[in-house]
Amino acid sequence: MDLKNKLLLENKKNFNICVIGAGHVGLVVSAGLAKLGHKVVCVDNNRKKIVLLKRLSLTFFEPGLESLVREGVKRGRLYFSYNLAEGIKNSEVIFIAVGTPPKEDGSVDLTSIENVCRVIARNLNSYKVIIEKSTVPVHTGEKVKETISRYKKKKNVSFDVVSNPEFLREGSAVYDFFNPSRIVLGVESQRAERILRAIYKNLKTTLLVTDINTAELIKHACNSFLATKLSFINAISRICDLAGANVERVAEGMGLDPRIGRDFLKAGVGFGGFCLPKDIDAFIHLSEKLGYNFSLLKEVKKINQEQKSYFVEKIKECLWVLKDKRIAVFGLSFKPGTDDMRFSPSIDIIESLVKEKALLFLYDPQSIGEAKRVFSGLATKKIKFFKEPYSAVKGCDCLCLLTEWEEFNRLNFKKIKSLMRYSLIADGRNFLDKEKLEKLGFKYIGIGR
Ligand code: UDX
Repeated sequence: MDLKNKLLLENKKNFNICVIGAGHVGLVVSAGLAKLGHKVVCVDNNRKKIVLLKRLSLTFFEPGLESLVREGVKRGRLYFSYNLAEGIKNSEVIFIAVGTPPKEDGSVDLTSIENVCRVIARNLNSYKVIIEKSTVPVHTGEKVKETISRYKKKKNVSFDVVSNPEFLREGSAVYDFFNPSRIVLGVESQRAERILRAIYKNLKTTLLVTDINTAELIKHACNSFLATKLSFINAISRICDLAGANVERVAEGMGLDPRIGRDFLKAGVGFGGFCLPKDIDAFIHLSEKLGYNFSLLKEVKKINQEQKSYFVEKIKECLWVLKDKRIAVFGLSFKPGTDDMRFSPSIDIIESLVKEKALLFLYDPQSIGEAKRVFSGLATKKIKFFKEPYSAVKGCDCLCLLTEWEEFNRLNFKKIKSLMRYSLIADGRNFLDKEKLEKLGFKYIGIGR
């Protein structure tokens, strides 16, 4: 690259960007970068997905994302394509946001990342910054660099690799993109750092610049710490049940200490989603590979697993025999604000209830379609799906709440009580107003409450 081109690129305000992967991360990042003024092509090898996106139809629910995508496309800053080679050739900056699913042994399947690197190598026609956005194990940056160098066709063209982990929460990913708590940049060259600073210049937040390995490790450490905090409060919830204390008030008392903080201290049926569970597995696996036995994280995982069976046991204690008991389950996604059911606690809980031969009536404001797919392999005669909550509770012995959708607090519980056969509420998120429900005549069980 001659000096003139180099300076042109570094002094640019807006960039031609290719985002590889149109999933929960890739699509938010694409639409967000377009809003920041960049010209973005979002590429995915799933043709069906791209066809839908071209028609402005999203394959998952994320608040605010549809209108952001629409705006980007309308302004001519956001495009969708399945032509990866073209996307790469026409861009100065490439974000890799492809899936990194877990393997059976807990390690991460990096096949997609490796494939993408080889395509980047073949189409590296000018200097480019290649940014890891997918959650990847430490040392992936090194592998990305090695792979691209090995397969690149034009030997004199240079590139830089950057680790820029994402901290977007599903359900508030669009908000998080524009209001990040921090931006972590793992870089090896000042040129790449300058370009990344320019890309994000309109986001007002702390920019933490580290080496690539450290940036990758920050991501592992954050998600593992969040999971640890959750399992800690869930363990406390068990002790609260045994001691006759209230975990909500304990969390309040803990959270007032600024060193601890109130966030991520909501006890419940445990954490799920496509990040926390797979990230702690990956970190346990990775640490072991590096020579450290991360037994603390193994315990975090165990507590999270036990929390679900503990909840089923609590329901069983109240209903005695679960066979043929009619149980309405409200909330199936792993958290509110999303239709994502990946690793949702609802899956294990519903499977246990089906094993006990209970009859299940499922309702969720967003994920009924997803639930039908997830439970298609189960004894489906035992499961019915509902589009609205009141028909789901008709004749039920128990209403079990697994996701804290705001609308559940606005339900007419008087009506629900009159529709149910026995009025047990099992609140797996300590979300509902216990006193109010007890006054209405419900038997209420929460977790550590
Ligand atoms: C997480 C990280 O927060 C985000 O920074 C990362 O980049 C991706 O993974 P996400 O998976 O969207 O985000 O969900 P998060 O809000 O972290 O919640 C994870 C799980 O913990 C959910 O199942 C949620 O219900 C549960 N949770 C969260 C609790 O049980 N109690 C709490 O107090 C908070």
